[in-house]
Amino acid sequence: MRDLTITTIIKECSEDELSPADRLLVEKAKDATRTSYSPYSRFHVGAAILMDDGTICTGSNQENAAYPSGLCAERTAAFHASATHPGIAMKKIAIAAWTAAGKPEGLPYKDYFQKMPISPCGGCRQALLEYEARDGDIEVILYGADKIYIFPSIASLLPFCFTSF
Ligand code: THU
Repeated sequence: MRDLTITTIIKECSEDELSPADRLLVEKAKDATRTSYSPYSRFHVGAAILMDDGTICTGSNQENAAYPSGLCAERTAAFHASATHPGIAMKKIAIAAWTAAGKPEGLPYKDYFQKMPISPCGGCRQALLEYEARDGDIEVILYGADKIYIFPSIASLLPFCFTSF
């Protein structure tokens, strides 16, 4: 019996180190947080997906009184992208979030982005993985006000993933 090691090399950077195209994608993810419907968690998440034809599809978390019926920002964006751009590969996804909890009324949401990046939940990783397995790597840009992490693919966020049966 022997040990195997799984290694993921990710990039850490600040916003001003991003390329202009990546900065734009992050801006779109931040903008998308404004469309979040999150009266229960008050956690506003936005995702922006760069498509292979250059368009950007966004999504935000949509909650529901029947909690499990809601959907995360990442899957909202991915399903939006797939439904409106069938056959076009997703190349990158950027994710940003802020919380209204503790945010004084009237202060701009832009000052309330999470300092550390938030990372997609397991269900969103699995859903995104299916598009990646079909169309090629989707880079993941996790925005935090203090630092940004960049993963080379969805699979790198989901080792030993299930893709087919
Ligand atoms: N949420 C997302 O939209 N994306 C994530 O990566 C983590 C969590 C949402 C789900 C729910 O509406 C709220 O954030 C609190 O979990």
